[in-house]
Amino acid sequence: MNHSELEHIAKAMVAQGKGILAADESSGTIKKRFDKISLESTADSRRAYRDMLFTTPGMQDHISGVILYDETLRQSSLAGVPFAKHLTDLGVVPGIKVDMGAKALPGFPGDTVTEGLDGLRERLAEYHALGARFAKWRGVIDIGEDYPSDFALEANAHALARYAALCQEAGIVPIVEPEVLMDGDHSIETCEQVTSAALLAVFAQLAAQHVHLEGMILKPNMVISGKKNANRASPHAVAEATVRTLKRHVPSAVPGIAFLSGGQSPAEAALHLSLINQVGSLPWQVTFSYGRALQDAALLAWAGQSANVGAGQREFGKWARLNGLARSGRYTAGMEA
Ligand code: 13P
Repeated sequence: MNHSELEHIAKAMVAQGKGILAADESSGTIKKRFDKISLESTADSRRAYRDMLFTTPGMQDHISGVILYDETLRQSSLAGVPFAKHLTDLGVVPGIKVDMGAKALPGFPGDTVTEGLDGLRERLAEYHALGARFAKWRGVIDIGEDYPSDFALEANAHALARYAALCQEAGIVPIVEPEVLMDGDHSIETCEQVTSAALLAVFAQLAAQHVHLEGMILKPNMVISGKKNANRASPHAVAEATVRTLKRHVPSAVPGIAFLSGGQSPAEAALHLSLINQVGSLPWQVTFSYGRALQDAALLAWAGQSANVGAGQREFGKWARLNGLARSGRYTAGMEA
């Protein structure tokens, strides 16, 4: 493992004005997205969609890296260039989702643990050979009446750290993603409490398993009210609670924090990121690693039609640019209009 190489990649992933595009939807998830535009999900339609996104003119001005799914890393652009090479040639770092999804944790109703550690060393070596220079693993923490349990936080933290250590051994920067879901009706205070506990467990495990903090990126949720909460906290309250929680639990040795959007609307996700960056004097680079918030508008505009490639790219390019501004506190509400 070469620490300086890992640090170099991690810094590039959170470079000024840029953030990460999460385009690593599994076959099941992308089918759900395509259902919304009544498009059949096939290897060819998935390839055409990713091609539309990745050939957006000027994408590299705002996108530092793209998280790919296994299938996509093995596919080529419509121009016949492997996607990993296409991105690398643009100066965009290709990454790969390596977890195998969250599965029910036996004995702990409502809790899940993410699978995918067995054989991961061998898979990482292959992904590196295919051009991937960073990876992603998502631990999922849902909030309900009786969960998450401390045991689930511990199990997910342990797996995240095992994954991170294996990545670094392979010369791959791990994105460590403990996602506290915003699906419930919980308050922002509950989200803060659970997010704090999750981060505490994660950084204890990263230390215990000798992960080089300077060579990783944290991908957390924002501290935010549940989607179904009747009195959702204001954008300023979200920014304040998020910064407070991260300052308490994320060592300043970590070069960058790249948020997931988690079901926020594109405008909400951009505004929150901008306000977080306006809080000022943060010890890390703070940017985005959005899936839905970057893609939703582009997917609708494209609608699976080759005639709409330009329209889809305009939407993706717009949200990449706006989040590039948000990442230094310069997005304001309504700017997209
Ligand atoms: P969203 O931004 O759509 O939450 O996706 C990001 C991601 O990669 C979740 O694992």
